[in-house]
Amino acid sequence: MSVMENSKLTVVGAGAVGSSVAYAALIRGSARHVALYDIAAPKVEAEVLDLAHGAQFTGSSDIIGGADVSVAAGSHVVVITAGAKQNPGQTRIELAGVNAGILRTMLPQLLEVAPNAIYVIVTNPCDVLTVIGQEATGLPPERIFASGTVLDTSRLRWRLAQRAGVSTSSVHAHIIGEHGDTEFPLWSHATIGSVPILDWEPLDGQPRFTKDELDRIAVEVRDAAYTVIRGKGATNYAIGLSSARIVEAILGDQHAILPVSTVLNDFHGIDGVALSVPSVVSAAGAKPIMNTAFSDHELGLLRHSADALRGAAATLR
Ligand code: LAC
Repeated sequence: MSVMENSKLTVVGAGAVGSSVAYAALIRGSARHVALYDIAAPKVEAEVLDLAHGAQFTGSSDIIGGADVSVAAGSHVVVITAGAKQNPGQTRIELAGVNAGILRTMLPQLLEVAPNAIYVIVTNPCDVLTVIGQEATGLPPERIFASGTVLDTSRLRWRLAQRAGVSTSSVHAHIIGEHGDTEFPLWSHATIGSVPILDWEPLDGQPRFTKDELDRIAVEVRDAAYTVIRGKGATNYAIGLSSARIVEAILGDQHAILPVSTVLNDFHGIDGVALSVPSVVSAAGAKPIMNTAFSDHELGLLRHSADALRGAAATLR
C-alpha cells in the first residue's frame, strides 16, 4: 500500500466500530499516523493502549488518541463513527435524531483542528447524516461523504463469490442507494469476470444463478446487519475493513471506484439527498460517476431510495 507521506487518519468514536476502523487501518497500513478520539477518556485511552501494544506487529503506522479534540489536529482524513448504534430490530433511520445532534456539535470542533481533511461519515444513518454534515460545514460534497454501501457491496460480492466458485475480487457487482432498507444491487451491470452473472457457469457443477435466487441474495445482503446485530449486538469487523479501504483510496490518491454516498447534484435528476452510487475516490474526495447507466427498473429503485432518505432528512431540519 502506498499512501501519502506522513498521512494522518483520525477515527472519531472509540466504540466497537471506531476501534475496528483503527485496528484495520493499523494492520493494513492505511495511514502513517492513526489517532482515535472519543469524549469518554477512560475508554479511548484503554483502546489506544490496547492497539499500541500490538505495534510490534503492525508495521510503521503509529496510534495516539484521547478525549481532547486536539488529537485530530492536522488530519488528512477523519472517519466519524461516534453516536448511538442500532439495537436488535431497530432500523438505521431510527437513529437519525440523536446522531444528527451529536454530529452537529462535533463537526465544527473537528473542522477547527482539521480544516483540510476529507470527512467520511460511518455513523448511521450515514446517508442522512451526510446531508446534515454537509449543510452544517458548508464543505463541498466531495469532501464530506459516507461509507455508504461499500460494506453492503462487499457482503454481496462475498455471497456471489461463494456461490460462483470464484474469488471475491473477480465478482463485479455493486449495491447502491441507501445504506439500509431501500438499497439494491445494480444487477444490470453485474459480471463474474467478464461474463454477465446470469450466464455464469459455476465451476463446481452447481446450476446457474436464476433471477429469483439473485432476488433472495439481495434481501439477504440488505438484512445482513440485522442478522449480525441479533447475534452479537453490533457489526464491527467488516465496517472497519470497508472504512480502511476508503481511507486508502483517499490517502493513496487512488481514483478507486467505490459506492460511497455523497450529496447528489442532478444525478439522473436526483438532487440534495445523499446516497451511494459508483464514485471515484481520490485525494480530492468522492465524485459520483455521472453517466453510470441504469435499467428503468433500477432508476425507479434509486428514486425510491432517494425519496425515503429525503423524507428522513426532512424530519431533522
Ligand atoms: C452495518 C452497519 C455498520 O451495515 O450499518 O454493518
